Amino acid sequence: LDNGLARTPPMGWLAWERFRCNVDCVDDPYNCISERLFMQMADRLSEDGWKELGYNYINIDDCWMSMDRDEQGNLYANKTRFPNGIKKLADYVHSKGLKLGIYLDFGTHTCGGYPGSIKYLQKDAETIAGWGIDMLKMDGCYANVSDMSWGYPDMEMYMNKTGRPILFSCSWPAYAGGIKVDYSVLGKHCNAWRNYDDIQDSWDSVTHIIDWFGDNQDVLAPAAGPGHWNDPDMVNYTAIGDHCNMWRNYGDIQDSWDSVTNIIDWYGNNQDILVPAAAPGQWNDPDMVGGGGGDGRDCMDLLTKMFSFISLIVGDYSLSYEESKAQMAMWAILAAPLFMSNDLRSISPEARTILMNKEVIRISQDSLGMQGRRVIKGTNKVETWVRQVQTKETYAVAFLNRREDGMPYNHTTTLGSLNFTSTMGYEVVDVYTNHRYGHFGLDTKLTGDNKIETWVRPIERQDTYAVAFLNRRSDGI
Ligand code: DGJ
Repeated sequence: LDNGLARTPPMGWLAWERFRCNVDCVDDPYNCISERLFMQMADRLSEDGWKELGYNYINIDDCWMSMDRDEQGNLYANKTRFPNGIKKLADYVHSKGLKLGIYLDFGTHTCGGYPGSIKYLQKDAETIAGWGIDMLKMDGCYANVSDMSWGYPDMEMYMNKTGRPILFSCSWPAYAGGIKVDYSVLGKHCNAWRNYDDIQDSWDSVTHIIDWFGDNQDVLAPAAGPGHWNDPDMVNYTAIGDHCNMWRNYGDIQDSWDSVTNIIDWYGNNQDILVPAAAPGQWNDPDMVGGGGGDGRDCMDLLTKMFSFISLIVGDYSLSYEESKAQMAMWAILAAPLFMSNDLRSISPEARTILMNKEVIRISQDSLGMQGRRVIKGTNKVETWVRQVQTKETYAVAFLNRREDGMPYNHTTTLGSLNFTSTMGYEVVDVYTNHRYGHFGLDTKLTGDNKIETWVRPIERQDTYAVAFLNRRSDGI
């Protein structure tokens, strides 16, 4: 959509994956969908360094409305949870130098059962513009797909008429079969669009989405560009599994959530003995092996902490550290909008470091705006993904490890075999560790070993590439 917005993939924070439709502000005031939650997240975005990196949208999703419209047919926010109304919230968000996004649904109801917009497109466009909204996600529950081809363009027209620039994210293709839409029409009316399933807080869900984007890249990649982006949905980061490689009292931990939950179950079943013993200093555990993070953190300590806050942050703790890095890397390669859905009030330092990685953000935000493609699916289950960045001859490359054989695996290749052509060679830098590998000719062996992700930093000169070894192993060794 040529409205001057989203010239690079938009970035920010979106409530849905982490906070869903939690409307229980009586028993769960800290986490319910309320103005307080969005004000607190706005504070975090503006005070903790996120805004400066480009994370500048704070987005409300479903379940913010009152159950009915008012007598004039206007939408309004639930008065208990948003006592000051959305305009005040927008003013607050703007005072922090941020932008506010909101959610509507094109059908008769939102997916959560709140009022839909199908008969009120113009009115709702005027309402949100009057409130000072900067971005709209328009969902597609309870609607006929056939109506979407006029409905989404109409909404875009009505928002345009208000004179307020509003970034428009359309869920149209997600409801219309993903690739069975005319992407050139979408690109004219929407700044971004959800193509596929909702992301869930699991590695399975992340890889499922990556596979779908790879399988349909011939349709999807050409549709992306400045002002119009495919949206594989939110990023949700944690960092637990990778720090737990072994658990002496019970059995070896594996680098998977299954294994972590298995251990939690065992702890629950034996808690009368174990929990009193879990105080710091009471665990003689010198054999504990640090994970890929290598910080030597004590797993018992971590699991014990989990018990104490699992009721608060359940559902947002599935990706390991390495999986989190992999998702961030792949979303950058896919030129995806970067909307976090996590709790910025208690985010781990590891997750923060991943989300704040300037080089990965630089790849994500590259001004050419070209979506990456899976160029080799790999008989050895290591995929190679390439995104062109900056200048004609500059690329970001990800090696995505999909092996599940429980063994460390060295993936070796050469830039020449990946069809890189510059006889001058390339400078290779790992953007997660900032390690400089130096100069690589076309025949120099590039090896990514276990748990190493290597990117070639995109340097602003011709014939420079970004390369990633994106490790998808779940063996934990
Ligand atoms: C379905 C969408 O795909 C989700 O992202 C979220 O907006 C929910 N609806 C809200 O009900």
